[in-house]
Amino acid sequence: MNNAFLKSFTTLQQVYNERAFSSIALNKTLHFCKAQDKALITKIVYGVLDNDIKLDYVISKYVKKMPKGDTLIFLKMGTYCLMELSIPFYAVVNDIAELAKVTEDKRLVGFVNATLKSIAKTIKSFDNYPTDELEKVSVKYSSPLWALKKLVKDYGKDTAIQIVSTVAENRTTARFANGLDAEQIQKLYNLQVEPTPFADAFYIDGKLPTLDSNFTVQSLSSMAIAHICANGANGNFLDCCSAPGGKAVYVKQLRADIAVTACDVHEHRVQLINAYASRMGVQIQTHTQDMTQYHEPFDSAFDTVLCDVPCSGFGVLNNRPDIKLFRESLDISNLMKLQQQILQNCSKYVKVGGRLVYSTCTIFQHENWQNINKFLKNNPNFTLGTIVLPQFPSVDGNSTYQFLPHKDGTQGFYVAVLTRKE
Ligand SMILES: C[S@@+](CC[C@H](N)C(=O)[O-])C[C@H]1O[C@@H](n2cnc3c(N)ncnc32)[C@H](O)[C@@H]1O
Repeated sequence: MNNAFLKSFTTLQQVYNERAFSSIALNKTLHFCKAQDKALITKIVYGVLDNDIKLDYVISKYVKKMPKGDTLIFLKMGTYCLMELSIPFYAVVNDIAELAKVTEDKRLVGFVNATLKSIAKTIKSFDNYPTDELEKVSVKYSSPLWALKKLVKDYGKDTAIQIVSTVAENRTTARFANGLDAEQIQKLYNLQVEPTPFADAFYIDGKLPTLDSNFTVQSLSSMAIAHICANGANGNFLDCCSAPGGKAVYVKQLRADIAVTACDVHEHRVQLINAYASRMGVQIQTHTQDMTQYHEPFDSAFDTVLCDVPCSGFGVLNNRPDIKLFRESLDISNLMKLQQQILQNCSKYVKVGGRLVYSTCTIFQHENWQNINKFLKNNPNFTLGTIVLPQFPSVDGNSTYQFLPHKDGTQGFYVAVLTRKE
């Protein structure tokens, strides 16, 4: 049996059937599998999840009745390999049919085999997409139709289509402490690197070395928010929704002179912040705290308060393709309520004259600008402030900014800087 196919299948089962996070399920699988299978398993698992809507649609055109459960997973894996990977057709069909034998259901094996054979014959020229323009875009780029319609309302049709059809540059970025330059990184870690807008961060290719106190993987979006918080900060900094600590730890590394307090509602996630701070060798105060609830000792105590709120994650789909599978339109209004509660409560922790920084990793205006607009209307003691981010000249000097993959070359994320007047 093809081992990479088997491991991909069991990982996908966990995501589809048990709603496991794709990155967590995949990491567990990769931990126990042979080195030579890792790349293919990663490609199949992320490829299938990322193309879920398209795969459903294509398969529906080849069957009388849409299959469910494991049968559908076999067909999605097979169809994805036939469409996107350069594995010979006969090998895909045979290996997936062989894999289907784990079900011990002969009729199912026959069905999977016959369906994949018929898909294999015509898949390279498949063009039987919906005639409606938005439905076609939704299928082609596997973007949920409700999300696409929401983006059309937010940005207009052309930009919405551009957003979903642009795959954000998905190169891994890492930052290095102690001023290591490209040559030293090559020598120490055997890594080829290319510069990013941040002097201490690089695009990296190839196998990642073991993380240590000099080296950590972090997205450009996360680094940008940390820089915005660190630039011009003084005194005390509070990160309200901090786990696993990416931004809080980086702020402390950028600005050893400021005191950093990091909170999260989940105790086990606060432990992640502690572990990360300890690996990077920085000292920050951590608290397990529900930041929707008022905490008197924090009142007007911080010069900068960051609310990096829980969000729909639609700006980081390339890292978390399972988001597209399980999020629904209704989730956004529930999230908005939580985001408003956190923002409203944590605004009390900003000193007069201090900054309130709000950020999300999503592209929906309801969670971004509309939230800020609502907050400003209800809180006349706050006004729009200034983002300081010289590494991104188009952003620097704005009060709020929506990063979009097709124009900024980053993931989709949002930031607003507000100032407390009184
Ligand atoms: C977007 S993540 C934060 C990422 C983090 N700032 C970083 O850079 O690594 C949102 C976090 O908010 C936390 N959270 C959710 N509800 C919360 C609440 N009511 N109070 C505090 N934290 C909360 C979640 O546990 C999650 O860790």
